[in-house]
Amino acid sequence: MARDRTFVCSACGASHPRWSGQCESCGGWNTILEEVPLSSGPTTKSLGRKRGAAVTLTDLATEEAAPPRTLAGVEELDRVLGGGLVPASAILLGGDPGIGKSTLLLQAAARFARNGLNVVYVTGEESTAQVRMRAARLGLTQSPVKLAAETNLRDILTTLEAERPDLVVIDSIQTMWADHVEAAPGSVSQVRAAAHELTAFAKSRGVSVVMVGHVTKEGAIAGPRVIEHMVDCVLYFEGERGHQFRILRAVKNRFGPADEIGVFEMTGKGLAEVRNPSALFLSERGTPAPGSAVFAGIEGTRPILCEFQALVAPAPSGQARRSVVGWDGGRLAMILAVLDARVGIGFAGMDVYLNVAGGLRITEPAADLAVAAALVSARMDRALEPTCVIFGEISLSGALRPVSQTENRLKEAQKLGFTSAILPKAQKRPAAAVMSLRETGDLAGFAEDIFGIAPQGREQG
Ligand code: TYD
Ligand code: MG
Repeated sequence: MARDRTFVCSACGASHPRWSGQCESCGGWNTILEEVPLSSGPTTKSLGRKRGAAVTLTDLATEEAAPPRTLAGVEELDRVLGGGLVPASAILLGGDPGIGKSTLLLQAAARFARNGLNVVYVTGEESTAQVRMRAARLGLTQSPVKLAAETNLRDILTTLEAERPDLVVIDSIQTMWADHVEAAPGSVSQVRAAAHELTAFAKSRGVSVVMVGHVTKEGAIAGPRVIEHMVDCVLYFEGERGHQFRILRAVKNRFGPADEIGVFEMTGKGLAEVRNPSALFLSERGTPAPGSAVFAGIEGTRPILCEFQALVAPAPSGQARRSVVGWDGGRLAMILAVLDARVGIGFAGMDVYLNVAGGLRITEPAADLAVAAALVSARMDRALEPTCVIFGEISLSGALRPVSQTENRLKEAQKLGFTSAILPKAQKRPAAAVMSLRETGDLAGFAEDIFGIAPQGREQG
């Protein structure tokens, strides 16, 4: 029987009827590969008339207690997990190679083992000697973690069946090999099959499974996104190369809030928790310089202050550059356009660079006003007040929209010694009266109030 050819994107897992250079679904280049389908032969047949067993239907009311969670004792990790590890959960930890996933998981495994869980760490990438050496460096050699170097999924599952651990770490899912699938390890069908088996094992045996997934740049190896839908919890470990800070971010969590972040610092002795990230992200701030604005942000349930830095310079050639690190390039283009159209501050013929200090990545629209402030400050070559925080969302009309959790943002700023805040006008005045609040209704009012830029139509100041 002739088999239909299937082409699958190794970055996002979308399937395509034919090969092409770019995936229409995720936009990745050279990520589409031909795959042997999981089930042999095309499934064009319908289920037919044969009847199955009836499934019992229930209502939503429940008597069941919330699952007992185990804390790692590492606050930054426990919070991202939604308040500790849930039994029988499947967790995916994604991240660039070399970012520190194995280090984080070995440290976490040791903590959970010390807290009484039976923990197995399976490495498919390194030898047991290499993992032991890392453990020695991290000072974890006495932790009761059970270690194996294996890639054969059948052998691993047989071992786990006998061992009955509480937590299994699989490092990494791309090295696992399921012998019932005719495809190379790391291919989309292998990674999916292995993740499916491990997730099913987690559910049926009450074992928590953490799978490492390397984010891949080219198409030969499947990325972690192809299994995101299968697991309960998706965490990404991020950081800029050359920075020691690492951010653990929950992008999906069936047992807790997503968008929660944990902040770590890579030291010579492994990852250290950063309990006060705001102080850390602001620590590099020197004398107040034009182009610097402090944003009072919220990541998950926690307020985090960080610094936006902007640089505006005449473009040497015709094509002006827009370069962004830590924020969305499309959003920057929008704010530049709104500044031009609603305030009359143009950036044509100028290179614009925007950077979030410390390697943090901000996704909140509440950062709009801080970005605008940094841009205008750089453009006018005038520094903002160094003890002032800024937040607010900008709409295309130039109006400022109030954002959530104003109180929390102000409280964190106050704690770190900031004395004033620039924020959108809201119906309800925030109670934090110790700070001086400068509320503005739109971007033009903000530019006039803070930088003395006369509104459009009149003479420019
Ligand atoms: P690793 O956990 O192996 O990354 P991943 O599993 O995501 O590929 O971490 C690799 C980097 O971390 C490596 O470049 C060295 C650095 N590192 C430290 O700086 N300190 C340490 O104590 C350890 C164990 C690693
Ligand atoms: Mg690793």
